[in-house]
Amino acid sequence: MALQNVNVLLGVTGGIAAYKAPDLVRKLTGLGATVRVVLSPSSSAFVTPLSLQAVSGNIVHQHLLDPEAEAGMGHIELARWADVLLIAPATAHCIAKLAHGLADDLLTTLVLATNAPVFLAPAMNQQMWAAQATQDNLNILTQRNITLFGPASGEQACGDIGYGRMLETHEIANMLDQALVDMPVLASTQSIEVASSEPLPLSGQHIVITAGPTREAIDPVRYISNHSSGKMGYSLAVQALALGAQVTLISGPVALPAPTGCKFISVTSALDMHTAALHAIENAGDIFIACAAVADYRVANVMDHKLKKSADEMTISLVKNPDILADVAALSSPPFTVGFAAETHDVEHYAKDKLTRKKLNMIAANDVSQSDIGFNQSDNALTVFTADAQIVLPKQDKLALAKELLKIVAQHVSNH
Ligand code: PMT
Repeated sequence: MALQNVNVLLGVTGGIAAYKAPDLVRKLTGLGATVRVVLSPSSSAFVTPLSLQAVSGNIVHQHLLDPEAEAGMGHIELARWADVLLIAPATAHCIAKLAHGLADDLLTTLVLATNAPVFLAPAMNQQMWAAQATQDNLNILTQRNITLFGPASGEQACGDIGYGRMLETHEIANMLDQALVDMPVLASTQSIEVASSEPLPLSGQHIVITAGPTREAIDPVRYISNHSSGKMGYSLAVQALALGAQVTLISGPVALPAPTGCKFISVTSALDMHTAALHAIENAGDIFIACAAVADYRVANVMDHKLKKSADEMTISLVKNPDILADVAALSSPPFTVGFAAETHDVEHYAKDKLTRKKLNMIAANDVSQSDIGFNQSDNALTVFTADAQIVLPKQDKLALAKELLKIVAQHVSNH
């Protein structure tokens, strides 16, 4: 499968065929691709961002001038992230804008900003398809090496019969897969696994990953927690699956959908996560990656009723939570154990201390004093320590970073 580990940016524009986009995402991920979706302004009338986020496992991108999205994965990073850009359905209006280099929304801007190959699956009324303007625009695009998939001929949503139907989703996914086989340069830069007949680096391994924050109840309506979004841990789960592993993801409360293909266990508190992790490891864990930001302390006496406001000051007594990572590493036959260290200063010193004190095989340290990486950001940067090595993984999108980290883990596990 040439799409294995390929980053597909899927643009969806506003035609009736947009309702097929979630199914297309499934077909693409089924062939091994990582998919991020960009919606044109009118497409959300036909398909919801939430359903596309759920099937792709990634935030859906919609607006060019969105400060929050730009602070996460900005449009230039998104354009660079893409190995291929597929627009399905591509409406007559979208085709016209692309032919003339317009960039008045996120999707058309990305087409100009990327150097990835672009594929279009047109969908429109047969008369619009036959219109001279559309055919002239398509000529311009094909001369720029933009590839067309379809359209098919048949009965249309409006009752007309003729060319203009979007191809079936499995046909588009298979044509994209085949197009990559026919593009050897692209295929070889995507992944060693595509070109090689060797097994994936994590195949046969069962990885247990913790992700997200924990919540420690104060009373029925209040809790203590932290800013972990789960993005780093979920990225590890998605990439571990792509690298061939069987994955159990144990997650605290986050706003992300569970990645397709993993065993997903939802927990709330550190005690819940402790029980779930030890149980999962006992059953099948070869590798344990503790990415969760687990609360070190919990409330000693959780109230069974809502605390009432009274005195000017209040003291809450806390007790230490068990250390999940240390307890896993202390098992009589522990898995290959990888910790994370979230530090604000003396990063190397504290990370190395955790590596030896908790008896880990590896620790990935992030400097969470930097506001553009770490907690609740799309990017991160890690320094990976083992007993005798130190590897710097520079700032990048958490999905790409997760893949780098897992390749290092795979190398060390095979020498273990
Ligand atoms: O979720 P994101 O928004 O994407 O942010 C990612 C992240 C910053 C949370 C992640 O990269 C990270 O650093 N995770 C570890 C956070 C943390 O709690 O670090 P720590 O230095 O306090 O803990 C050290 C290690 O012990 C961690 O692997 C932690 O999971 C583990 N631990 C800590 C306490 C405890 N009771 N049990 C544990 O297993």
